[in-house]
Amino acid sequence: MKIAFAGKGGAGKTSLAAWLGDYLARSGENVWLVDADTALSLGQASGLDPSLLPTPLAEREDIIRTYIGQGYMSLNPEVSGLPETLSVPLPLGGPAFAGRTAGDKKLLVMGTVAGAASGCACAANALLKSVLAHLILEERAWVLVDMEAGVEHLGRGTVADVDALVVVSEPSLRSLHTAAEVARLAEGLGLARQALALNRSEAGDALPDIAGLPGHVLRIPVLPGLRKRQLSSGSVLGLPEDALINALCAELLRALATESSPPAQA
Ligand SMILES: Nc1ncnc2c1ncn2[C@@H]1O[C@H](COP(=O)(O)OP(=O)(O)O)[C@@H](O)[C@H]1O
Ligand SMILES: [Mg+2]
Repeated sequence: MKIAFAGKGGAGKTSLAAWLGDYLARSGENVWLVDADTALSLGQASGLDPSLLPTPLAEREDIIRTYIGQGYMSLNPEVSGLPETLSVPLPLGGPAFAGRTAGDKKLLVMGTVAGAASGCACAANALLKSVLAHLILEERAWVLVDMEAGVEHLGRGTVADVDALVVVSEPSLRSLHTAAEVARLAEGLGLARQALALNRSEAGDALPDIAGLPGHVLRIPVLPGLRKRQLSSGSVLGLPEDALINALCAELLRALATESSPPAQA
């Protein structure tokens, strides 16, 4: 399954993508984690030593020129081997689950066209699109795409081909309005499998009446272990709340297995 994560900045997209990627790999699945966010933090959130972070694809002028060319641009390059070449393996946040052999977890850092090597933003854009489309349409492994805060990617065609969308939001009006906007846009593109991950929320928090929010709601509490850890480490894995996070990941996957219907209570 190919899953995109969207929502307002700071809501918890990167953390949730890192948790789900680790859960899947420990369950025996092969997973691509794609960092398509400007903040480039999925690697660190997944426990990768910062010195091992790859240069974002958007800044690899050599590769962009090779695949897209100069002058006459190839807008449909053959990129099947490229993700593998550019990826770095990610460490597991814990042991494989009982009776399973851990799958591969790989990171691909896209970067942004704004940060592209000078003069090749357009070519970089074409290559990023091709690589993302390849992963989403051709790869048999799981692909989790950590997107920019905004909804830009959803309009670009490729992300519209994912199977499911996780909209991450804080339990606040502004964050939920952004979430609803993203969800509506995705719905308009035919993306019916959606879940709202309400991060840092309490069981009793009632949702305000905002049209367009996904019907499936996953509540993630504040994690004291993560709060304590985050001044000394960028990793969100291997927390004391591991069991709770794994249960939430399983719940999220169950929710995404079916199309979401409008919330019972609007
Ligand atoms: N449930 C949670 N409890 C405690 N801290 C959290 C929780 N979810 C996320 N965080 C922290 O909040 C910050 C923002 O999360 P992040 O996943 O980077 O958001 P985004 O990718 O949406 O910008 C990070 O420092 C992360 O460790
Ligand atoms: Mg992020």
